[in-house]
This record gives sequence, C-alpha cells and structure tokens, in this order.
Amino acid sequence: LHLCILLDIFYPFLKDKKYPEVYKGVAKKEMKKIRRQTPMLSIETKVDTSITPLVEFMEKTNNKLKIENIEYCAELKYDGLAVELIYINKKLVSASTRGDGYVGEDVTDKCLDIFSIPTRLKNCEHDYVVVRGEVIITHFNFEEINNTQKLIGRKTYSNPRNAAAGILRSLNDTIKPHILDFIPYSLFVSRELISPNETQFENLDMLMDYGFSLLYSVPYIKATTLEDLRKFYDYDNLQYIPIDIDGIVYKVNNISYQNELGFTKDTPRWAYAHKFPPKEVTSYIRDIIIQVGRTGKITPVAKIDPVLIGGVVVSSATLYNQNEIYSKNIAIGDEVIVRRAGEVVPEITKSITEHTGDKCYNIYSCL
Ligand code: IVH
Repeated sequence: LHLCILLDIFYPFLKDKKYPEVYKGVAKKEMKKIRRQTPMLSIETKVDTSITPLVEFMEKTNNKLKIENIEYCAELKYDGLAVELIYINKKLVSASTRGDGYVGEDVTDKCLDIFSIPTRLKNCEHDYVVVRGEVIITHFNFEEINNTQKLIGRKTYSNPRNAAAGILRSLNDTIKPHILDFIPYSLFVSRELISPNETQFENLDMLMDYGFSLLYSVPYIKATTLEDLRKFYDYDNLQYIPIDIDGIVYKVNNISYQNELGFTKDTPRWAYAHKFPPKEVTSYIRDIIIQVGRTGKITPVAKIDPVLIGGVVVSSATLYNQNEIYSKNIAIGDEVIVRRAGEVVPEITKSITEHTGDKCYNIYSCL
C-alpha cells in the first residue's frame, strides 16, 4: 500500500480540506522549470495508414540527399511523456518534461525513483550526456494503479499516457513514480547535442550499454527498402508488447545525413512518424445487455453504434461491472469513448455526455 493511502485511512485530519490532494506538510507549490538551449522538437506525424506517406518521405530524403538506398532506423513510437535526462560525470543531475520545447518541468526527483532510469551510467566515457526518451507505464502497472485508485475512491486514469503524465507531473507523492518506466530514443554527448556515433542504431545500442534497458523486448531495426520498413509497421506481434505504442518512427540512420537534411521550422526532415489506426474512438451507447458467463458471473455489455477501431468493426464493448458504470457515470444514449488495445476486449473508457449520477444505468434494475 502506498504511504498516502495509509495517511488517508489513519490520519484523515492531515488532509487539507480545500485541496484534498494536498497533505499538510507534504505540499509543494509549483513545479520548478528547466530551460534548455536546444529545444525538444516533435516529428512530422501522419495518420494515413496506407503506404503512401512512407513512400513520399523516402522519396523526399532521396531527392534532398541525392543518394539511393538510404538506410533507416525504425523504432516504435512510445505513447507517453517526452523527457530529457542530463548526466554529468555519469550521474543523473536533471530530468525535465518537454513542455513547450524550450522550457520543461523539473521532474528530477521523480525520475531518480524510476528503476529503468539509471542514476549512474555504466561503460560511459563522456562527461556530459543527454538522453531523450519517453516515460511510460506498462499495461500491467496501469491496471494495478487504477485498481488502487478505485480502492481508495479516487478517479481512475483513462489511458496509460494520462497515468504516466499524471504521476510524473503530480505535485504530491500520492502515487510513487516507481511504477513508471522510461524508454530512451536519442543520445547526445555534449551541450551542443553531438551524437557519439555515426548512426542512430549505434546510439540505441550504446544506450543499452549505458544501463538503459531494452524493456519488454522493444525492437528497433535498420533497413533500406520500403518493403522491410513497412513490414515493421505491419508486424503483428507488436500488439503483444505490454506498453502503448501509437506508431512507428522512421529515422535516417546516418547522423551526418541527418545533419545535412536538417530541420523545417519545427520538425526534423530526417524523421517521420507513421501512426497506427487509433485505438480510441467515440460512439453512442444504444443499449446495455447483461452477459452471463460459464461461472455465473454477470457482465454488462454496451451495444454501441458500430465503429472502426484499429481496422476492426466494434459494435459492443464491456462495461465490466456496476461499480465501473457508477464510477464512469454511464447511461444508455451517452456519447462514449471506446477503446481496443492489443488482445484486450473493447471497453468503454469514459462517457463524454454530462449528466447526474442518478441517470446512471443500474444493471440490477432489470433483474
Ligand atoms: S524521436 C526531433 N523517437 O513522439 C524529434 N520520438 O512528435 C525526435 N516519441 O513527443 C523525437 N517515440 O517524444 C522519437 N522512438 C521515438 C519516439 C518519439 C515516441 C515521441 C516524442 C515526441 C513525439 C513526436
């Protein structure tokens, strides 16, 4: 159990009435800001799931560099919160969120508690190291934390990204950051953001040597052909990786080619993110039926207007149980968010329709 749950139960008077999330004596005001010289940028992202945007990206880089058979590094696009770590003399000295690119929030204390962030780099010969990556939460830890939230009557997180961001950026330590993880994707070894290797692929390997973990067999590949790069995007087994990924990032592998290509106003010309079809869409609940399982367990299931999620038509989604219906405040006719992730059954994560709790559906009213 988290310390603050114990505080809630045994020392309720410690809680500030005006700000129930703040414990007297533990409260901090605002997060410190960290300013960086070189901004953290985003990548050009397309949602068109056909092969066309990838073909266009490859053609553009070929034309600009006037070279054929350019090698690309393809990585997963982790759906979390971008964070920059700075190591001086191998020691983690600063961690900040992306913020507006130039100014981020100081999350050093939290990151010191994340096990997949080494506090001291191994096998490192550089005295100034910058690592950029994504703070994420695994599906398993996401379930765990939501179960705990329910247990203590707090609002659950609607998806892993919100949970990771909420826990990392929260001003109190209600939920310890240990349950978060970090996956690196960029490495530099000076204040001027110089790459230590000739290729992105080698940089990723070097990060593993430094002590970052290749969590949950997160794969990355290098390839030159359209077919091989697309194969990675279509790779079926990606759905079993127990973290949220929302696409594939293609990067020109050679760093000197990257420098030659440079940046547009706010995105690099050497990278392109190909999004997967969305896993969350909105629909309307038309009916709620009760399913009885082999063991006699009853499960309310929402019948919704059919929607396409990740290439599959979904017309019903689980509501799990009456408690979930109460906590999400769901009634027939509501506009809702439907989510399908990996092998998990489609579920209603949230109602967008505002109404009072007494309109909420009661599965026992029809028994
Ligand atoms: S590279 C110059 N690689 O996706 C930008 N970004 O818009 C270099 N992201 O918020 C970023 N996975 O935090 C890169 N394998 C990956 C990534 C990745 C997730 C995030 C990034 C940014 C957004 C891109």
